[in-house]
Amino acid sequence: MIRKCLFPAAGYGTRFLPATKATPKEMLPVLTKPLIQYGVEEALEAGIHTMAIVTGRGKRAIEDHFDISYELEHQIKGTSKEPLLHEIRALIDRCTFSYTRQREMKGLGHAILTGETLIGEEPFAVLLADDLCENSGGQGVLGQMVTLYNKHRCSIVAIEKVPRHETDKYGIVAGEEIGEGLYRVHDMVEKPSPEKTPSTLAIIGRYILTPDIFDILRETPPGRGGEIQITDALLRQARKGRVLAYRFQGQRFDCGSVEGFVMATNHFYKKFHS
Ligand code: G1P
Repeated sequence: MIRKCLFPAAGYGTRFLPATKATPKEMLPVLTKPLIQYGVEEALEAGIHTMAIVTGRGKRAIEDHFDISYELEHQIKGTSKEPLLHEIRALIDRCTFSYTRQREMKGLGHAILTGETLIGEEPFAVLLADDLCENSGGQGVLGQMVTLYNKHRCSIVAIEKVPRHETDKYGIVAGEEIGEGLYRVHDMVEKPSPEKTPSTLAIIGRYILTPDIFDILRETPPGRGGEIQITDALLRQARKGRVLAYRFQGQRFDCGSVEGFVMATNHFYKKFHS
């Protein structure tokens, strides 16, 4: 059973400067909700109630967001604005949040290893909040992956097909299709060039990881960009046939880029105002 979701949230968000100079990128809102709240809602929908957040310097707004704001609630009590806080209040009442800080930015693999103290010895989910995913009317992406995990009991990465000229933005997997949209992974490369990529199946920010990943990460040397890459650690599991890649149902917006962020904003605006 997957009980915990890890949110690596220590990155600088340089692509959104100056907006992210003093505001965590995870707190940028799509309409009125910060990105990380969409992520927490997706985890909750997948039956996960424990949110483990890896933060860093300048990220305290995330902790405040998932806490009660007595002063604000007192101010707006009885006014027309009161319902605006109901959704987040109901959300935080259903979850527990724990935090640890990543002191140095040494890559996604390092961020996940930093979260070990919050996870312990159990399988867990990882959600990168700047990949905003939606499956209108159906099960969320993490929910789909939890269902798969319960059947296969191994690490799982969410994937989608990307244009060949974009493979150097993603972790790329190659494998054998063993079911509808489900692959047994035999190769994984972090951000390969379009000329050298083993496929065009790109990892997007949803993972289910078995806890042996922590020992593997401890031994994983810096890879692409001099950073400790989760893709390299997963390759060790993949070589033993223990990684699946899943083409999820739904739509994903790359809110780590301004273009993707605007697309997400337009999508949700149309959805809620038409
Ligand atoms: C990270 C991972 C990459 C993955 C991507 C998904 O890259 O390293 O393998 O494809 O997230 O968003 P980043 O976007 O942090 O550079």
